[in-house]
Parts: sequence; C-alpha cells; structure tokens
Amino acid sequence: MKTKAETLLIVEDDKGLQTQLKWHFSDYQVVVAANQKDAVAAIRLHEPKVMIQDLGLPPDEDGVKEGFELLQQALHLNPHMKVIVMTGNEGNQHAMQAIKLGSYDFYAKPVDPDTLDLIVQRAFHIHDLEEKNRHLSQHQESMLNGLIASDEKMLKICKMIEKVAPTDVSCLLLGDSGTGKEVLANALHQLSPRKEHNIIAINCAAIPENLIESELFGYEKGAFTGAVKTTIGKIEQAHKGTLFLDEIGDMPLHLQAKLLRFLQERVIERVGGRKQIAIDTRIVCATHKNLDEMIASGEFREDLFYRISEIQIDIPALKDRGSDKILLAKYLLNKFVKKQKLNIIGFSEDAINAIENHSWPGNVREMENKIKRATIMCELKYISALDLGLSKIESSALNLKEIRKNAEVRALKQALIASDNNISAAAKTLGITRPTLYDLMKKYNMSS
Ligand SMILES: Nc1ncnc2c1ncn2[C@@H]1O[C@H](COP(=O)(O)OP(=O)(O)OP(=O)(O)O)[C@@H](O)[C@H]1O
Ligand SMILES: [Mg+2]
Repeated sequence: MKTKAETLLIVEDDKGLQTQLKWHFSDYQVVVAANQKDAVAAIRLHEPKVMIQDLGLPPDEDGVKEGFELLQQALHLNPHMKVIVMTGNEGNQHAMQAIKLGSYDFYAKPVDPDTLDLIVQRAFHIHDLEEKNRHLSQHQESMLNGLIASDEKMLKICKMIEKVAPTDVSCLLLGDSGTGKEVLANALHQLSPRKEHNIIAINCAAIPENLIESELFGYEKGAFTGAVKTTIGKIEQAHKGTLFLDEIGDMPLHLQAKLLRFLQERVIERVGGRKQIAIDTRIVCATHKNLDEMIASGEFREDLFYRISEIQIDIPALKDRGSDKILLAKYLLNKFVKKQKLNIIGFSEDAINAIENHSWPGNVREMENKIKRATIMCELKYISALDLGLSKIESSALNLKEIRKNAEVRALKQALIASDNNISAAAKTLGITRPTLYDLMKKYNMSS
C-alpha cells in the first residue's frame, strides 16, 4: 500500500536517527525537522498526511513538554494529519497522553524499521480512507440539501424523493419523531419547480383547535371579534409553492372535512368571506401517528388519507439505518466543530461502539443534541461515550485520580454553563465557596 512520493514529515533532533529514517523511508518524499518551529513551518508548507514525531524534543530541560506542544499545534493546524509519536524511556504514560491528545499511534524507541514501516503505511492508508469518507459525506450532503444517507433504505427514499419532487403528487411522510420528516419535506420542495415560491409549514399539533381553521384558510375583516383586518391563511400563502401539513394526525375531524374539500376542489374561502380563491399548491403531510389505526377507530378520515398519500414514504428509525449512525454522527460532529471552531478531531472507540449500540429513541434529533452536548463537555481531542452521555463509567481514564479530575471538571463546566459564567451562582450550585471554586478552576486550568 506504500504510496510513492507521498510526503512524510519526520520530526527528530537526533542527527543519526534522522539520517537512518530518511534513508529507510526513501520511497516517500521525506521532510525532516529538528525542532518545533521547523516542524510547524513544514506542516504549513508541505501539508503532510503523516508525521512521525519524537516526543522528547528538543533535548533541553523542558524537552518533553515541547513535544506535547508540537503535537497539539500540529493537530490544530491540520486535524486530519496522522501523527505517530516516538517515545524514549518516559514510559507508557506519555504515549497514552499523546493518544489522548489526538496522535494516531505511538512507537517506543529503539526503532525497528520494519514495524515502523507498517505503522506508517497504515497511517497513510487510514488517512486516505478518511479523506474518501469526508468527500463522500460532503457529496451526499449536497445531493439533498443537508441530508445524510448511506443506508440502503435511506438511499431508496432519497431516490424516491428525487423522482417525485418535480411532480405534483401529494406525499405523506411517516416516521417517528426526529427521523427527518421536515428535512424530507423541504427536500421535496427544493427539488421541485416550485422552489422559487414558498414552502409554508403548519404544525397541526401546535395550534389550538379553534384557531386552525383561520390559520389555514385566513379570514376577512370582521369575520369574528378580533378580526381587525383581512388576513391571508397558510394555504393561500403557499400558492404556487408547497404546503407542508406537519402532524396531520392531530387535525380535528371537522377540519379534516374542510381540508378534504379544498383538496378536491382546489379553491378556498376565507373565514367570513364569500369569494372563492383558486389555489395551486403541492401538498406534503407528515405524522408520527399510526393513521391506519386512527382510520379504524374513526379518528381520521379514510377519504382524506387517500388524498394526501398518493405517495407514502416510511422513514426508518435511526437504529435501523446501519452505517448511517456513524456517518451522521461524524457529519454532525464536524458541523458543530466547524461552527464553534473547536479542536475536537473525532470519536473515541468507546463512543463509536456506544453510538452503534444505543437505540436512539429520539432518532436524529437526539443524536444532534447528544453530540452538541458532547462538544461542550469534551476535554480532549476525541469525544468519549461518557461525553455523549452514553456511558456511566469512564473506560478510557487512566486511574482513579484522573476519573475524579474529569468528573470535577465536568461538574464545574456544567455549573458555569448553567449559571452563564456567574461564579457566585455556580459556586452555590456546587455547594462550595467562591474561593474554592476559583481554586478548582485554577487547578484545572479553566477560564470562566
Ligand atoms: N438524514 C439527515 N441528515 C442530516 N440531518 C438530519 C437528517 N435527518 C434529520 N436531520 C436533522 O435532525 C433534526 C430532526 O429532523 P426533523 O425535524 O426533520 O425530524 P422530524 O421527523 O420532523 O421530527 P419531529 O417528529 O420531532 O418533528 C433536524 O435538525 C434535522 O436537520
Ligand atoms: Mg417535524
């Protein structure tokens, strides 16, 4: 898998080792740096995919610290670069710390060229795979406006959306909460010739029953007390565009009859008006309710059901979408990291496992919330299952001391966020005094 002429950056201050490594990796375009400054310049100039870095660099009093500093700076400059750290006799502790800070792998000196060779090859390979993945998700995103899908069932739905969007058939989107009904409704509009006009959404569950009619059909001045001026309803606003009736299962029966009449005749009358107004709009409906059962129990009109469901799209729950879970999680993380300019690189292994195994009852919306929360809570380069709120134990922590520290930092952060950085209020929530809170913040290097 060795890729010729790929750039490999080697950061090593030992001249002998430099030469040895340069010679060994002659199939790559090797760039060598002996200190932090040169290494940073080389990262900027050559944008290497892989860097081998001596952690104990340079060998002055503060050598090791500079190694960690470079690692952090390097990953800040290029979060996708794979860094392999070489440790001397500082032991495992440093290697673990480097991994936590985001290095890809570690290797203990003395150098065995063949083993290092394998690690480097694999690093390039992983880098290329990840790049492909990023490319793919960007591509998939652009196809349907922010919609991430790779699972077969979801891809089928995307194809269906693309096919029916340009037509005027009515679509019924069925799916549990947070599965993306609104996203798909918007996609139907955006991919239709109606996209220059409005998509008007009305949430039938959110409007009091006595107001839905005037919301939908509008009203004439003086139609009822409080109707001080003629007001256009949602259906009229959706003229030439798309009307999205969200939570259609919550529409009261008497309005179902009025909606049915509109769908048959395509004209409306404003409340209190006599004029018939012709409306050309495309109908998209959504609900998480079981309409079949509602029809059987007489709560939903069967004739209306057939009108609104010329095409029915069943959106699968997130837990049934196979690889989509990880793809979506990475996409969402990327989105939040970019927006908040964070230094988080990805998910730890326990987080990936937890994402795969969680049942996601709140579907994509729940995932969005959990990942957003995790980006706030995360201390390191990689988000853990604990950050996501999907694990009670801190599996990746080194020892009890670290578990305690992490728990304390988390509690402080939560209290500070909840109190909008008000130190007195945060201290009160935590049941400690202000000076104690200041001491703890100082101890953990936290700013308010
Ligand atoms: N396939 C997807 N790719 C990217 N983001 C998605 C996807 N599906 C849903 N989302 C995001 O998840 C959130 C929930 O989606 P949406 O509001 O469309 O769900 P819903 O089914 O209408 O939920 P509810 O029943 O709660 O109204 C939104 O922020 C949306 O942007
Ligand atoms: Mg919705």
